[in-house]
Amino acid sequence: MYTEKVMDHFTNPRNVGEIADANGIGEVGNAKCGDIMRIYLKVDDKDIIQDVKFKTFGCGAAIATSSMVTEMVKGKSLTEALEISNQAVAEALGGLPPVKMHCSNLAADALHEAIKDYMEKKGK
Ligand code: FES
Repeated sequence: MYTEKVMDHFTNPRNVGEIADANGIGEVGNAKCGDIMRIYLKVDDKDIIQDVKFKTFGCGAAIATSSMVTEMVKGKSLTEALEISNQAVAEALGGLPPVKMHCSNLAADALHEAIKDYMEKKGK
C-alpha cells in the first residue's frame, strides 16, 4: 500500500531531531488524528535554509512526509520553500494511499509555520 520511497523515509527518516539555535520553529497538529509535527529551521542572512530538522509524533506517513520535506528544502531559499505544497511532498514520495493523504497535510504546513515564525522574529 505504501511506495518504496515512503517505506524508505519511514524506516530511515532524514534530519530527525531539534536544532538548538533554530531561528524558525513551526508546529502543526492534525485535527483528524491528533498527531503533531514540529519543524526547526536555521536560516542564514541571505534567507537560505542552512539546516532543517523535524520531530513528528505521528503515523508512518507523517514521518515519511516530514523526512521528505526536510530533504526538499535544505539549501533552498525561503521563497522556494514557501512554494512547496503538501501535494508536492506527497508526489515526491511517489504518492500516498488516499486514506493517508491527510497525513501529508502536516509537512508543508509545519514548514510554512516555521518560515512565518522566522519572518516574524526578523520583523519581516
Ligand atoms: Fe495522523 Fe497520519 S494518522 S498524521
